[in-house]
Amino acid sequence: MAPVRNSRVLFNSVPQGASHERTGYPVPGETLVTDHSQTIDLDNVSLDGGKVLAKVLAISVDPYLRGRMRAASKKSYSDAFKLGDPISNFAVVKVLRSDNPSYKPGQHLYGFADFAEYIVISEPSHWRVLPENSNVPWSVYVGVAGMPGKTAVYGWKEVAQAKKGETVYVSTAAGPVGSMVVQIAKAEGLKVIASAGQESKLDFLRQIGADVVFNYKTTDLATVLEEHGPIDIYWDHVGNKTLSTVLDHMNTFGRVVIIGAIASYNGQPDPIYNLATALWKRLTLRGFIVSDYEKKYADEFYATIPEKIAKGEFKYTETIVRSLDDAPQLVTDVQKGNNTGKAVIILADD
Ligand SMILES: NC(=O)c1ccc[n+]([C@@H]2O[C@H](COP(=O)([O-])OP(=O)(O)OC[C@H]3O[C@@H](n4cnc5c(N)ncnc54)[C@H](OP(=O)(O)O)[C@@H]3O)[C@@H](O)[C@H]2O)c1
Repeated sequence: MAPVRNSRVLFNSVPQGASHERTGYPVPGETLVTDHSQTIDLDNVSLDGGKVLAKVLAISVDPYLRGRMRAASKKSYSDAFKLGDPISNFAVVKVLRSDNPSYKPGQHLYGFADFAEYIVISEPSHWRVLPENSNVPWSVYVGVAGMPGKTAVYGWKEVAQAKKGETVYVSTAAGPVGSMVVQIAKAEGLKVIASAGQESKLDFLRQIGADVVFNYKTTDLATVLEEHGPIDIYWDHVGNKTLSTVLDHMNTFGRVVIIGAIASYNGQPDPIYNLATALWKRLTLRGFIVSDYEKKYADEFYATIPEKIAKGEFKYTETIVRSLDDAPQLVTDVQKGNNTGKAVIILADD
């Protein structure tokens, strides 16, 4: 077969900071560009040394990608994208050819891929072989059955220290992480307060059992927490002023699980003026990064969570695009809240 097109999404420029004239949001077609110039010879590309050729089926678009679109000189917990190179993230791929006896054509793998139509995997042992016939769509393995779901499950076990009857507040609750936390907390008998920024997201939060649901853009957070608090666990996806407001409504010995800070991903962080509250109330504030707990919890996660998803015990929503041409826009939409549920690029169903 003649070589075929292998489109990719490239990191083209660092978004401007909030102190500049423009906002710090990624600009589709400028920050990220979709490139169609490359081809790949699927029959003959070299796989020497145990490599695997795979077709990319689904790629995750996550909020943290914004942090990787930075100048390489700035250090962080995840590597900066390299200007001119493809961006990368968690993906599900299907093996087409293999020079490695452990991987067979037709298998589906979960791991870290370039935003591209086809990839050559140099170290397939870093990828997880997914079960066939699990009744979980492949896209969901980058969502609630993938890194975001793991964030909820591992973080809840490791940090939340939840007890039946307690009250948890989940911000950005309708996304893949938040909605899993809402459902886990309800299953364990907690009272759940959940917020999101769109009416359709609030409907979903009601469907999955949240007790108190509100739009943080139109409803005053302090008033809600005054009425329905105090809060034993704050599952924080937002940071900034939301965090300081919640600190004022925490219960004594409460836990603040710091998972994300999306309110400052594209702009300046706010000062937290009332941190001394942590002293008066004997609070625990703990930052959490999912990858730290992969070894500890992954096998248990895959043995239990996909099955519960397949049975409908965990519900989810997705925002899907079907072309890499639409990927730069989706990356920006996630930062601006224009996605509903897990943002995913599906390039092929199988
Ligand atoms: N620590 C870890 O290991 C880890 C792993 C995965 C994810 N995370 C973090 O967890 C959070 C949720 O991730 P997810 O994958 O479930 O994402 P998601 O729901 O797809 O996150 C994007 C959502 O964030 C909300 N948002 C955007 N700007 C906001 C603002 N200024 N204030 C409040 N909400 C805002 C929007 O929803 P609304 O319409 O509700 O505003 C948007 O749809 C993110 O902060 C992410 O970075 C952390």
